[in-house]
Amino acid sequence: MCGIFGFIGKRSAAPLLVDGLRRLEYRGYDSSGIVVKNGNLQVHKKIGKVSELSKILPNHIEGNVGIAHTRWATHGGVTDENAHPHLSQNGDIALVHNGIIDNARGLRKRLTERGFHLESETDSEALVHMISIGIDSGQSPLESVRQTLNRVTGTWGLCVLFKEHDLIVCARNGSPLIIGKGEGESFVSSDPHALTQHTQSFYLLEDGDMAVVTRDGIDISRLEGGASSTGLTILEDEWGEADMAGFPHYMLKEIHEQPEALRRCITGRLDMANGSAKLGGLRLDPLRLRTVPHVRLIGCGTALNATKIGQLAIESLARIPAVAHVASEFRYNDPVINPNAIHFAVSQSGETADTLSAVKEIQLKGGDVHGIVNVVGSTIARTCGQGVYIHSGPEQAVASTKAFTNMVASLLLFAIRIGRTRNFSREKGQSIIKDFQRIPDLMEKYLQNPGPIDEAVELVKDAKSVLFLGRGLSAPVASEGALKLMEIAYIPCLAYPAGEMKHGPIALLEEGSPVVVILPNDKHREKTIASMHECRARGAKIILIHEEGDVEATEEADISIPVPSCSYLLTPLLTVVPTQLIAYRTALALGCDVDRPRNLAKSVTVE
Ligand code: AGP
Repeated sequence: MCGIFGFIGKRSAAPLLVDGLRRLEYRGYDSSGIVVKNGNLQVHKKIGKVSELSKILPNHIEGNVGIAHTRWATHGGVTDENAHPHLSQNGDIALVHNGIIDNARGLRKRLTERGFHLESETDSEALVHMISIGIDSGQSPLESVRQTLNRVTGTWGLCVLFKEHDLIVCARNGSPLIIGKGEGESFVSSDPHALTQHTQSFYLLEDGDMAVVTRDGIDISRLEGGASSTGLTILEDEWGEADMAGFPHYMLKEIHEQPEALRRCITGRLDMANGSAKLGGLRLDPLRLRTVPHVRLIGCGTALNATKIGQLAIESLARIPAVAHVASEFRYNDPVINPNAIHFAVSQSGETADTLSAVKEIQLKGGDVHGIVNVVGSTIARTCGQGVYIHSGPEQAVASTKAFTNMVASLLLFAIRIGRTRNFSREKGQSIIKDFQRIPDLMEKYLQNPGPIDEAVELVKDAKSVLFLGRGLSAPVASEGALKLMEIAYIPCLAYPAGEMKHGPIALLEEGSPVVVILPNDKHREKTIASMHECRARGAKIILIHEEGDVEATEEADISIPVPSCSYLLTPLLTVVPTQLIAYRTALALGCDVDRPRNLAKSVTVE
């Protein structure tokens, strides 16, 4: 999704801006641009990758103030004109903007009537012309941006550069923006990843904040006037540099990082002595856990699939109702909120607009929300103010892998904690924990010998569609496998609870149709095998993900991929890994851009 990077200091701005854009690339985008102040404002922008932009940049660009942008098209197609930065008509003001201006149509119309010629089809361009009207009428840079934003509805993270002033004006409303403070230099970005190699000192702007950023100072105020309470935060860079570590793609690296990431997530949280789990960030005492009426979990995409596993685990271990919700639907369905319930917002980036809106809806109705988030200090983490960091480390590939397994692990930890408070004995808790401790090693064991993935790829890569089936905890694993293959290999995939297959999707099956079946040795096994028979009887080819030693089941399969055995509750942490590898290698076989699939963004900051 769109990204912003800005710099003001004594160093040459252009190389820093381009480097900043490269660090934002993983988020997904379709064009990029920079503007540097050098007497005039020099804009360079181009559709395609940052490397395409680099090709059109002059060898040397003077100037030590500039702003830059990666665009993910919302208003207007992917063209050079629609790429940011946008310039005012006299070329004295440049703007980059993330978010959506809801009343842009009316604003553009009024500007056109006043004689402005708009160069692009974007909502963002209207803002720069409105700011220029303010400047022409004698307003200061900050005041012109403030007056403009007071006439606008929608969301923004934006930076504005002025030819006549040595500063950057920033503002945030619903789209993240972070200011980094260095020695005699300042940085702005929509993503901490782009800043952490420069500084650890940040101002994490809140919605409604505006800032004047200079080399030596950062002055933060509120859009409605008055001072902001946003203070300096030191972010421990626990992540360091996210490099490829010898892997050809981030996705493959992140798949292989799962055992270590999982260790980070569970270390110190498994409470063997009490047969329970410790989650320090959850403000939930035993009384609350005992009396809570229900649990609701909210997320999108991969996070949603993790919540579905959480739902089943919580119901199973704690014997209370739990429901997983699609975040983008939640707010608009005017949900009834019980303030005594426990709500979880699950998100890798912590910036997903749909999930954030759901959090705000719950809070508005008196409920409190716990975040289950990867990115430390992200908007969802801060808005919730309580929760669990999943500690996956930086996830750069658009297709989420290690965040999924750690979201599932975190929700399982909560299920153990609440289950132990309400329902099961210390001995049962200890037995689950003993199994949990083994999972990172079992993942490692599987990754050393992942089975006939390439044979599975041969079956799916030219298929019209692929069906994924599973029951119980394996149904969301099927959904996650289907999502992965769809998003990076562009193959239409359907995921169904295996029993539901005969109620419709079975019509799709013909000779050779690939069906991926997730089959741990659980109470659903026999029924899932029956569904597999139904598929085979219609000519389908079965790719079976099963537990080691299940010889009987493999007789039904065309390709069988064994994963190590573990207790039922923990099976998603292992059965999902082959689906990730199938997606990865299929995308490679089809020549797709694995880490940056078309049209997708790593963090989706618009609703
Ligand atoms: C995952 O592979 C997807 N790229 C996507 O579905 C993602 O999980 C979703 O957009 C939610 O993102 P979040 O976890 O950052 O909130």
